[in-house]
Amino acid sequence: MSPFLLTRTLPEDATNAALRADVLHGLTRTPKTLPPKWFYDARGSELFEEITRLPEYYPTRAEREILAERAPEIAAATGARTLVELGSGSSEKTRFLLDALPSLHSYVPVDVSESALNGAAEALLADHPDLNVHALIADFTRGPELPVTPGPRLVAFLGGTVGNLLPGERALFLRSVRAMLDPGDFLLLGTDLVKDEAVLVRAYDDAAGITAEFNKNVLSVLARELGADVDPADFDHVARWDRDNEWIEMRLRARSALTVKIPELDLVVPFEEGEELRTEVSAKFRQDGVRTELAEAGMDLTHWWTDEEGRFALSLATTS
Ligand code: AVJ
Repeated sequence: MSPFLLTRTLPEDATNAALRADVLHGLTRTPKTLPPKWFYDARGSELFEEITRLPEYYPTRAEREILAERAPEIAAATGARTLVELGSGSSEKTRFLLDALPSLHSYVPVDVSESALNGAAEALLADHPDLNVHALIADFTRGPELPVTPGPRLVAFLGGTVGNLLPGERALFLRSVRAMLDPGDFLLLGTDLVKDEAVLVRAYDDAAGITAEFNKNVLSVLARELGADVDPADFDHVARWDRDNEWIEMRLRARSALTVKIPELDLVVPFEEGEELRTEVSAKFRQDGVRTELAEAGMDLTHWWTDEEGRFALSLATTS
């Protein structure tokens, strides 16, 4: 029997305090913004899983294709004995790595969701009974302190979620990842790539309206967690390609002039007709940019793999 350990590095109420701070800050500035992490309550996580199966949403399939094809090369290049997965969620794509790493000793999934960590660990241990699983409840953007496990270590951050960070946040995040690495450890980073605008916009504005529902779900989170009297039907889903920043922006546009009362924050938020609230940035990358950002954080890009169609990339980097 291998051990399953769970360590909480966040206080139980950290999530609610962070939500309040983000809402207070984001809804009292112009233009209004909210960080995308608040999409992911139980319903939002379910909607995201649905998104990954949509015909228009290619990133999940493209990344899975790369992992299926390249896991043996990743294993050979790293010889990893510990796999750390940031924002592990359901750990579904992790299986390719676990299956390919013969000398893996420990798996360290890091997520803010305790239920996701428990569910994923249970599923993985069924197939890898000898694996030591040490789950961390932590905010992965803060560079959590890792348990002592044998090296070399491979830190995986998949799904293109690094694109949800703004450039300044991304630089800080990559530095905090670098701080988790000992010399000779590795980072495996998934990034969606710049491509035809129509393909990108469709991926974030699907015909079935699932992404619209996902976007509006953040309003339901505000209603439930903070008592906001907001009706998701008062807002339209907007997905737009920002050519200069090379990112997709999701916004919620007020269909008419309205106010949102948030009693728990003592806040009344006025919206003009047509006013937009930015709920997500999803940056798209090029190899040069990824190499430069990694170098600025103290890492060398050693491998760059894309899917057959060149839509998505996995980067392997090591300490420089
Ligand atoms: C969480 C990074 C995988 O930005 O593509 C999907 C979230 N938002 N559809 C992304 C998302 C809208 C997604 N990732």
